[in-house]
Parts: sequence; structure tokens; C-alpha cells
Amino acid sequence: MQESQIPQIAALDAANFSAPWDEASIRGELENPLALWLAAEGEAAEGEERPILGYVGSQSCFEDADILNVCVRPEARRQGLAEALMRELERRLIPKGIETITLEVRASNLPAIRLYEKLGYSQVGTRKGYYEKPREDALILQKQLKEDR
Ligand SMILES: CC(C)(COP(=O)(O)OP(=O)(O)OC[C@H]1O[C@@H](n2cnc3c(N)ncnc32)[C@H](O)[C@@H]1OP(=O)(O)O)[C@@H](O)C(=O)NCCC(=O)NCCS
Repeated sequence: MQESQIPQIAALDAANFSAPWDEASIRGELENPLALWLAAEGEAAEGEERPILGYVGSQSCFEDADILNVCVRPEARRQGLAEALMRELERRLIPKGIETITLEVRASNLPAIRLYEKLGYSQVGTRKGYYEKPREDALILQKQLKEDR
């Protein structure tokens, strides 16, 4: 992720999540040594900036990385972009010594749950009423990276 991409990423976050990250918080991640965010750009139309098609954000703590958000622009979905972003994130986290990736997902978010299952995540817990607007349980999913090495 680069500084110039942050306004588009914040706009996508606001359009897709009930508790979005604002621009200043995302900008803070660029200076956070424990954060790793990746953004995927599409082709620019004549005279316009390159559109952000999707992004994934993570923060690491010791050997575990948390995925904070993953999002793909609606018109770019079902083309393998989220899968590619998640796989690239794993590829870059492994050399940093990360052994597990953990994330939370709304219990009703089937597209995301299918994505994580495809990538080898499995459920390790539930957080009751974790999400607001609307209130909903979170499934806690985790993937061990070690066995991939
Ligand atoms: C979840 C999301 C990131 C998936 O992005 P995407 O680029 O469309 O996903 P991909 O094309 O990489 O799909 C990879 C796999 O995920 C699963 N998947 C993705 N979208 C799906 C859907 N609508 N229904 C069922 N499975 C789906 C499939 O297993 C798919 O593999 P396949 O194409 O071989 O069947 C996207 O729908 C999104 O941005 N949603 C809104 C934000 C969100 O909910 N983020 C997750 C928060 S935890």
C-alpha cells in the first residue's frame, strides 16, 4: 500500500464495513512496523488515477498475524483477487517469522467464509455479539502457516 492509494482504500472501507477505518488510521499503518497492507490496482482510464480494486490489511504480534480487513470492489469480485491478495500476504508474512494468521468474520458473511475455507482457515472460536450495526457473532478463523513451508 502506498500513501497515494489511501483515499480510495478509505472510501472502499467505508462502503463495505460498518466500523470503517478512516484515512488517518490507515495512514498510521504505513508507519507501523507491525502492519502490512497490500493493495491491488487496476488499469487507469485516460487522464484518471489507477483504481484500487482491492486491499488486505494485517497487523502482527509475535508469531501471529491478524487480518484486519480484506475487501474487493464489487465490480472486480469473483475473479480471484481476494484469494491472490491473501496468498501474497501469506508469502510476505512467512519470512517475518509469522506462524499463524487469525481473523474474525461475521457469521453471515458466506462469501468471505468460503474464501477463508478455500485458503485453509478453520474455525477456532466464536465471539458472541462481537459486531455492531447489525449486532452479530464473529467466527474466529485461523490458519497455520508452518505446514506450508
Ligand atoms: C469476500 C470478498 C473479499 C471476496 O473477494 P473476491 O475477490 O470476490 O474473492 P475471490 O474471487 O478471490 O474468490 C476466492 C474464493 O472465495 C470464495 N467466494 C468468493 N466470493 C464468493 C461468493 N460470493 N459466494 C461463494 N463463495 C465465494 C470462493 O471459494 C472463491 O473461489 P472460486 O472462485 O474458486 O469459487 C468480497 O466479496 C468482498 O470484498 N466482500 C465485502 C467485504 C467483506 O465482507 N470482506 C470480508 C470481511 S471479514
